[in-house]
Amino acid sequence: MDFYNLALFFITLVIGIFTFYAILMRINGWYYAIKFCSKKYNIPFGYMGLPYFGNTLSYFKSSMCGDPNSFLDFFATRFGPGGMYRAYIFGKPTILVTKPEIIRKVLMDEEYLERGLPNYMKKLIGLTTSIEEDKYFRRLTAPVKSHGLLSDYFDYIDKTVRTTLEKYATTEEPIEFLHKMHRLAFEVFMRLLIGDEVNQEFFDQMFEEITAARKVLGGIFQKLIDERREAMKDGKSMPRANIIDMLLSNTNQDYEANILSDKKIIEILVLFSFAGFEPVALMSIKAILHLQKHPHFLEKAKEEQEEIVKRRASSNAGLSFDEIRQMTFVSKVINETLRIATDQTVFLRDTSTTFNINGYTIPKGWKFFAVAWNIHMNPDVYVQPKEFNASRWDDIETKPGIFLPFSMGPKSCPGSNLAKLQISVILHYYLLHYRVEQINPEARCYPPENCLVKFKKLSL
Ligand code: HEM
Ligand SMILES: *[C@@H]1O[C@H](CO)[C@@H](O)[C@H](O)[C@H]1NC(C)=O
Ligand SMILES: *[C@@H]1O[C@H](CO)[C@@H](O)[C@H](O)[C@H]1NC(C)=O
Repeated sequence: MDFYNLALFFITLVIGIFTFYAILMRINGWYYAIKFCSKKYNIPFGYMGLPYFGNTLSYFKSSMCGDPNSFLDFFATRFGPGGMYRAYIFGKPTILVTKPEIIRKVLMDEEYLERGLPNYMKKLIGLTTSIEEDKYFRRLTAPVKSHGLLSDYFDYIDKTVRTTLEKYATTEEPIEFLHKMHRLAFEVFMRLLIGDEVNQEFFDQMFEEITAARKVLGGIFQKLIDERREAMKDGKSMPRANIIDMLLSNTNQDYEANILSDKKIIEILVLFSFAGFEPVALMSIKAILHLQKHPHFLEKAKEEQEEIVKRRASSNAGLSFDEIRQMTFVSKVINETLRIATDQTVFLRDTSTTFNINGYTIPKGWKFFAVAWNIHMNPDVYVQPKEFNASRWDDIETKPGIFLPFSMGPKSCPGSNLAKLQISVILHYYLLHYRVEQINPEARCYPPENCLVKFKKLSL
């Protein structure tokens, strides 16, 4: 009898736990299904996971294993190949988008979707934007993409890359590759951000601060802004255009406040500081390591650089802005590096109003979430997508939206041209004069956070 009761107890317990578990896993979905059951909305099917956490954990799990596919596939297998699914990520009800053409539609919207960074990230960089401010920000910073500003700074970029790589080559001890490349990309970028006439110590200080304590940055920028305002009052202008001066001297009629507050300017500068150098350093290193693994591409890229040097009138002259355009093979190497390295880029947008897309009506306050994986690792566009193959760019038709390292549309990365330019200059000198030798095991260079290398000058 006792045994019978005990067995019954356990069976009840097990059923209870399963029921509880089943309810727990669905309750979030039910909550939102009831909340948005109105005929006004038409939300695609999907799975919203646990309350509060939603699917965030399973997304992180799959992306850390380098395969967001397992996360995305789950929705396609369970809810059909529609390409839009309801989910719950970063604390918000979310529409997961996996079809390239729908991702494109989401990214191209200018009016109703805001840049949807998770709140903790907004707090980290101190962002407080609205759609109006966003548009204004983009207009103000548009020159960063322009041929004018980039060619104006080209000699500076060229000189910095050349002298810095030379310095690495004369260092006896192995260098921490990523850290050193961060420093290089940072220096180039900061000149563009704050202008020419700032001394070297300032750069060193900025770099330490940026890697150590991000908050301190705001204070430094404030001081800089004050100085620059003073200088402007005296009618002194900088020899070359830069972003800080563009922000300070704007008097934009369309914007209600008419002039940006210091707080807003600092916000923009901090955003640019963080967005502007880390990916450039990382992509340069990844390109270098890919080339090292594929000697035939390395050889081909090197020959292209030697041809460029041969065509020069004087063999002493450095690289010129126009020569960048002759680097056709290297630009394939860069595209291929970017394609693979940004396959996990997440695109986020928030709906600022009820939003119609592909026959669905999505409520205000929901998020759109897409991963570049669905595009960059799409075997219909890229044969054997996981392979590094610079030659695939020989015959890829570059239709819009099949390659989104910098996203696309009105909110895409304003630094794309600068980034490609910097990586091209780095690769030019690297290919001609240097090679790296990995000191620690291969595994630590992918990803290259702990990659120790000896930077060696090629003998002539
Ligand atoms: C290879 C290097 C880089 C990559 C892969 C990259 C990629 C991206 C991506 C994917 C976004 C998000 C766009 C979206 O949400 O649709 C972005 C935004 C941004 N990037 Fe870059 N970026 C790079 C270099 C740079 C550089 C050099 C700068 C500085 C000039 C920069 C400044 C920014 C800024 C300010 C934003 C925010 C734009 C906004 O919120 O409207 N990035 N970048
Ligand atoms: C690299 O990608 C860009 C952007 O899609 C494209 O315009 C360009 O033609 C590509 N470069 C090469 C060499 O294929
Ligand atoms: C690389 O791409 C080219 C062009 O698409 C192709 O002919 C070649 O077979 C590919 N190489 C490898 C190793 O897959």
